[in-house]
Amino acid sequence: MARCSCQPPKLGFESRRQASQFLQGGTSRKVATLGGQAQSGHGSDALGVIADARARAGEELALAARHLDPSLVDVLRILGFDREYTSARGSHLYDADGRAYLDFHTGEGFASLGHNHPGVREVLEAALAEDLVDGVQLHYSTLAGMLAEELSARLPRGLDAVFFASTGAEAVDSAMKFARAATRRPRLVSCDSGFHGVTLGPLSLVGDDFFKEGFGPLLPGCARVPFGDLDRLEAELRGKDVAAFIVEPIQGRLVSTPPAGYLEAAQALCRRYGTLFVVDEIQTGLGRTGRWFALEEWGLDPDFVLVGKALSGGAMPVAAMVTRRAIHDRAVGTLERCYVHQSTFGRNRLSMAAGLATLRIIERDGLVGHASRMGALLRDGLTELQGRYEMVKTVRGRGLMIGIELGAPSSRAARMSWRLIHLASEGLFPQLVVIPLHRDHGVITMAAGKNDVIKLLPPLTLSEDEARCFLAALDAVLADVHGGESRNWAVVRDIATATLRRRPAREAPAEPAPFRGGRIDPSCDDLCLVTGATGFIGGHIAQRLVAEGRHVRCLARPDSDTSLLERLGVEIAPGDLTSPRSLARAAAGCRHVVHCGALVSDWATADEIRRVNVEGTRNLLDASAVAAVERFVHFSTTDVYGYPGGRAVDEGHAATRFANWYARSKLEAEAEVRRAERAQGLDAVVLRPATVYGPRSTEVVGAIARAIRGRRMLLVGGGGAVAGLCYVDNLVDAALLALDHESAPGGTFNVSDGLDVTWRQFTDDLARGLGCPPVRRSLPYPLASGLGFSLEHGYRLLRRTTGLTAPPLLSRQAVDVLGRDQSFSARRAREVLGWAPRVGYAAGLDATLAWLNDEHHVVPTPALSSPQPCRSGGSRLP
Ligand SMILES: Cc1ncc(COP(=O)(O)O)c(C=O)c1O
Repeated sequence: MARCSCQPPKLGFESRRQASQFLQGGTSRKVATLGGQAQSGHGSDALGVIADARARAGEELALAARHLDPSLVDVLRILGFDREYTSARGSHLYDADGRAYLDFHTGEGFASLGHNHPGVREVLEAALAEDLVDGVQLHYSTLAGMLAEELSARLPRGLDAVFFASTGAEAVDSAMKFARAATRRPRLVSCDSGFHGVTLGPLSLVGDDFFKEGFGPLLPGCARVPFGDLDRLEAELRGKDVAAFIVEPIQGRLVSTPPAGYLEAAQALCRRYGTLFVVDEIQTGLGRTGRWFALEEWGLDPDFVLVGKALSGGAMPVAAMVTRRAIHDRAVGTLERCYVHQSTFGRNRLSMAAGLATLRIIERDGLVGHASRMGALLRDGLTELQGRYEMVKTVRGRGLMIGIELGAPSSRAARMSWRLIHLASEGLFPQLVVIPLHRDHGVITMAAGKNDVIKLLPPLTLSEDEARCFLAALDAVLADVHGGESRNWAVVRDIATATLRRRPAREAPAEPAPFRGGRIDPSCDDLCLVTGATGFIGGHIAQRLVAEGRHVRCLARPDSDTSLLERLGVEIAPGDLTSPRSLARAAAGCRHVVHCGALVSDWATADEIRRVNVEGTRNLLDASAVAAVERFVHFSTTDVYGYPGGRAVDEGHAATRFANWYARSKLEAEAEVRRAERAQGLDAVVLRPATVYGPRSTEVVGAIARAIRGRRMLLVGGGGAVAGLCYVDNLVDAALLALDHESAPGGTFNVSDGLDVTWRQFTDDLARGLGCPPVRRSLPYPLASGLGFSLEHGYRLLRRTTGLTAPPLLSRQAVDVLGRDQSFSARRAREVLGWAPRVGYAAGLDATLAWLNDEHHVVPTPALSSPQPCRSGGSRLP
């Protein structure tokens, strides 16, 4: 495999033996040469520290596994990053064999002047030689004042009060404290997917839950808004209790650039509401984006700028919080408070000297302009690669901060691998490129996190040769992995499989029950898995699919009534949404999944409901990803809107209150679907049916009919609310369009016939058809709601203590559905899918009554009836 073709400066070894002698300290001190320039080679010290380290070269991973973090050691081994790097100069690291690696990550921008810059080293050695005063807290060194002065000179006017810290997180934490103290306000706002460090303060601002899991509770009073969303930001600031809004001008995690006008408008909002505007330039600052500071692009004038990482040119820990004098003084500016915010190493002499060296080198060598030119060269090259390789989805960034977002390949084989890889870990896929770049081409890059982005942060000193060398290496890797056959796919698939195997088993192993019903030819390529098919809606869907000549497999719990499915001749896969193993078997070989299964319950516990509706959906999505399912139709419900009442509620409506656990769980399940869509490239469609009626609706229409026959039906608020009816065949039409229509993926669609029929009219019509008197008993909504709440909770308690299995007589969900207008606009389904209700109310009612009169629903009924208008397929608790 061709290695990177640029000429890294040689360390001057003729052979591996010579390299090894060098590492053992066996060659002369000035042996290594860099670009013809003599370098001081390996140092020595009387205490033998460096000599010992040299002698133990090769033990680093064993030592780390024993005394540091063995899981990181594992990751390095798995990815093949377990090299024995022995030295670093400029853009390259060198391993024990003298092999050079072009560093396109530089420790997340830390070594931005390249590794071991001789200019910084010279200043550090000079500072050490001076025997300067250090660590005396009641003392200010000239170096600290000079660095503060030089930093301020490069920032917008007025930013002239500096606090030095050792890490970026400490600088962020300082700004959080200063902003609170200066404004006397408690709250802090940051952005989703932002990153500000991992100590507890900054972690409270971080967007990704992944970093926070297990470390809570975090700081109270911290809220996040989407990056780019000014409305949400204003909503947070309006209360005038927010001390600071903290934002990265370009988000480092995914290299997300702000929408046009966003940062300027965010700054203006902060001014309007008295919130301090904090720009975190810890990653973007000091030339990285082709400007001294990224904020210059938008002419920002923030209240704080935070600097770190590159400030010491990759030599010393140093970071800075820079703010306005007035803010500084309001926060700590009294004699008594001058010592309340300090840091032992904050302004140590070596960090200050390295910071000054770095600023001067950037200035002297014109590295800001150079970064801009090299960035343009790289981005042009990457855009050209994007044109040739479908896997390169987007290229973005500024200067030498570049994100390459990869996308799903189109071939079926590669897509299957792609999904398996995403299932194992959301940040694994970029390794398909990162591993061979490193192993075969000696180029170091890094995946940006739990996403498909590869982040490039090469040194600002990058040469044109090195930039071209990187592009050539990436071109070769992309060409290799393009089709899906390369061994690199197998390498990453193996990592995915190993990762999945390492996950703690959640299920006790059990002998899987064999499939029943009509067996399906394994070679068929239109197999559709239906969940919830033993229920009302799922059963109708299975029936229609069979009628259309499609191959159908239905998931059925062992204790469910499968008589209809047996009559239909579908294949029955015994299983359960809570059993990932059963879902993996059921989904294998399926092209489509229609997910109607859910626990529709108004009195099960939140955990029970979430286990089926949220975790069950996630389990099914995971199984679908592994099976390379092409389209996933998810049945949700209009209950996710929280019963707002009113007319023609559309898909953009967001629930403003907690309604019940069922509605909440369906909303969370939708989020799972969208997550899988993004992470696993699944084509997904969400349908939100309203009140579905029709034959076999035992849980809704059947329950209402039983109550009417028993003269026990009760309306809410006189039955004047719109019932939101949708005839089941019309819903099935929508489901088929969701499966087949090319514009459906990514869409969420209300499905309702759009009738003005109220509950009073519907029950009157049913009563007439059943030969019963009309329903006239009714409770006012507030009374019914209170009663529903009490009964629901009372039943839950009884269920826990006595094992009662009957549902409550009335619940909040039933009261909300019966008492508030269920009027939902299906305009989007009409416009995008071309859907229209085929069966009108009169025909739907006739068919329903025919079924009711045939079935004779004369089961004894409780005193009050609370039919649960079934908003998705599913079943009650057993
Ligand atoms: C934007 C930003 N802020 C803060 C930090 C935290 O810096 P440190 O790791 O030095 O604490 C980082 C680190 O990656 C960062 O990228």
